[in-house]
Amino acid sequence: MSPFDSLTLPNGSSVPNRIAKAAMEENMADAEHLPSAELLRLYQAWADGGAGLIITGNVMIDRRAMTGPGGVVLEDGTELEAFRNWARIGRAKGAQIWLQLSHPGRQVMKNMGQQTLAPSAVALDLGKHSNLFAMPRAMTEQDISEVIARFVSAARLGERAGFSGVQIHAAHGYLLSQFLSPLTNRRTDRWGGSLQNRARLLIETVKAVRAAVSPGFSIAVKLNSADFQRGGFDAADAKAVVEMLNELPVDLVELSGGSYEAPAMQGEARDGRTLAREAYFLDFARDIAAVAKMPVMVTGGIRRIGVVQQVLESGVAIAGIATALAIRPDLPNAWRRAEDLRPEVAPIRWKSKPLAALAAMAVVKFQLRRLSRGRAANPNVSPLKALVLAQLRTASLTRKYRRWIASSVTATAASGSTSAPPRAVGMPR
Ligand SMILES: Cc1cc2nc3c(=O)[nH]c(=O)nc-3n(C[C@H](O)[C@H](O)[C@H](O)COP(=O)(O)O)c2cc1C
Repeated sequence: MSPFDSLTLPNGSSVPNRIAKAAMEENMADAEHLPSAELLRLYQAWADGGAGLIITGNVMIDRRAMTGPGGVVLEDGTELEAFRNWARIGRAKGAQIWLQLSHPGRQVMKNMGQQTLAPSAVALDLGKHSNLFAMPRAMTEQDISEVIARFVSAARLGERAGFSGVQIHAAHGYLLSQFLSPLTNRRTDRWGGSLQNRARLLIETVKAVRAAVSPGFSIAVKLNSADFQRGGFDAADAKAVVEMLNELPVDLVELSGGSYEAPAMQGEARDGRTLAREAYFLDFARDIAAVAKMPVMVTGGIRRIGVVQQVLESGVAIAGIATALAIRPDLPNAWRRAEDLRPEVAPIRWKSKPLAALAAMAVVKFQLRRLSRGRAANPNVSPLKALVLAQLRTASLTRKYRRWIASSVTATAASGSTSAPPRAVGMPR
């Protein structure tokens, strides 16, 4: 099996090779939270670079629930022109491009000014940084139906704009992942308790999205192989959820791991067990691929073509790459030309793990900003400099977001419109 062999998905569509650009939140929306010119330039680089599958960063299904400021929002009533351009650019060289649809649940910074929702009122525990996040409110049945409807609307709009598919984000401690984990889901109704119940929101969302799009439109799920927290969602749970997804027309499952509390997706779990080796979720992925009826993709730590090959030989269909493609967006084409590239950033060994994790993200985001301006990456940037720049940018984007959402609520109220956002910010929902 070559990394450059195509893959036919269960829906009959084809992915031209086995290298995927994994989701990376760009925070590059324009003033209206639509895809900006910089964002499109960034995706042009990935499309030209030869990845067979391009998965966007988090796209928010609800403007009130943002994984971060500067995020793209896709809701009923959203103007689709910029999304059409994004999809066209992503597909121009033959790749599939999927929108990653996300709802952060409780993982929203307090200074975004929103009431956060979660399966249960369990706040994030980030030690002395915990007060950066608010106590979430437990969702009602109505909130749950609204979330499903919003995943459906966003997928439908994505198809209308020309995307090849969507990836439903059920990993990394976001809302669907919070429902899956017994640590964050303490509900006693049909949405909590047994794994069957905890997986219900994911399963119902997949079914509702599938019913709303055409059969050739790809639907994928990003799932944690484990939360890496004692008593959390574990590898056996992940396997059982994949068996549930086997019964549905899902075109791909991507395996990752961790959450804000235990950022294993960055290569290190909070329990100190260092997973900083290449393809660090591969053992889990191999086990899951053995039971999965759909193709499996694994992401995390992959930066060499030899490791991509090893991943494929393990029965995993696609190798997902984030960081290395932020440094060299042309990596697949360079590998195809037999160039032995292995792009990486130096590990950050600061005493404070939360700060080191933030800096690691900032270093990669620094590269995305450079690519979006048509410049080459600079993986040797000082992590401190990248972190300070990222913090300043986030503060400015947060202020812009707060102004935008306040004005969009005012505009909605003035027009008497019932389209998104359905209720005023700050009111119970
Ligand atoms: C800057 C940055 C932003 C990310 N944003 C997202 C995201 O929006 N959605 C997601 O599922 N994963 C996100 N991730 C996680 C990546 O998809 C991936 O799982 C992780 O970086 C490990 O892969 P890598 O070692 O190839 O970077 C992000 C990672 C980075 C570094």
